[in-house]
Amino acid sequence: MTGSRTYRAELALRRAIPEPVKAVVRVLRLLKPPPPGAPEIPQELLSGCVMLANRAALLDHVPKGGVICELGTQRGAFAREILARAEPAELHLVDVSFAACDPSVMADPRVSAHEMLTTAFLPGCADARFDMIYVDADHTHAAVKADIAAAKQKVKPGGLLAFNDFARIVRPGLGQFGVHQAVCEFMVEEGWPMAFFCMNGEALYDVALRRPPA
Ligand SMILES: C[S@@+](CC[C@H](N)C(=O)[O-])C[C@H]1O[C@@H](n2cnc3c(N)ncnc32)[C@H](O)[C@@H]1O
Repeated sequence: MTGSRTYRAELALRRAIPEPVKAVVRVLRLLKPPPPGAPEIPQELLSGCVMLANRAALLDHVPKGGVICELGTQRGAFAREILARAEPAELHLVDVSFAACDPSVMADPRVSAHEMLTTAFLPGCADARFDMIYVDADHTHAAVKADIAAAKQKVKPGGLLAFNDFARIVRPGLGQFGVHQAVCEFMVEEGWPMAFFCMNGEALYDVALRRPPA
């Protein structure tokens, strides 16, 4: 809860900054060169990757009756799909606020909702607890790196660490998507292979890495 309060205070502070000041900051950021591109991923980490038509199809590759965690739930659209299609025994949802979440998701007896920062929730989980952790919270490079660092030990060996919006957007005004960079860096550093690549109509792909066997 403390993490979630800090996050809300930060949001309130950002809202309080006058628009002209924000506009000047955006222009100044345009002068900054973009960060370097992501490292090349060794071929052997990609050769076994299966292409899927969409992210929902990923849920057919998680064992039924498993334990799943979604980092970033918002209205619960994907959580609903996880419940219906992966049929988990437990679904842990983590978000700074569940105010907008579908009440039918919140009422499902398999669901535990954790209203806090993702990086506050994960350290309290046992290692190798989850069949899949789905990362879809803050998409900045630093935040995704922090989520990966907190999540990697919590995935079962052979389980999946999946990411929404596997994209690179580094231009101010368009949002900051560092998911692609953070995932590629992690693959190269720790050698987790890409198991699934999910297509998406807006080219905002999902990918799932498989934790190597112990
Ligand atoms: C893109 S939405 C999630 C959408 C959802 N996964 C789906 O596909 O239906 C991102 C959510 O992450 C939450 N969020 C962002 N940063 C967070 C953080 N550091 N810790 C917890 N939740 C966070 C936001 O409140 C928001 O509800």
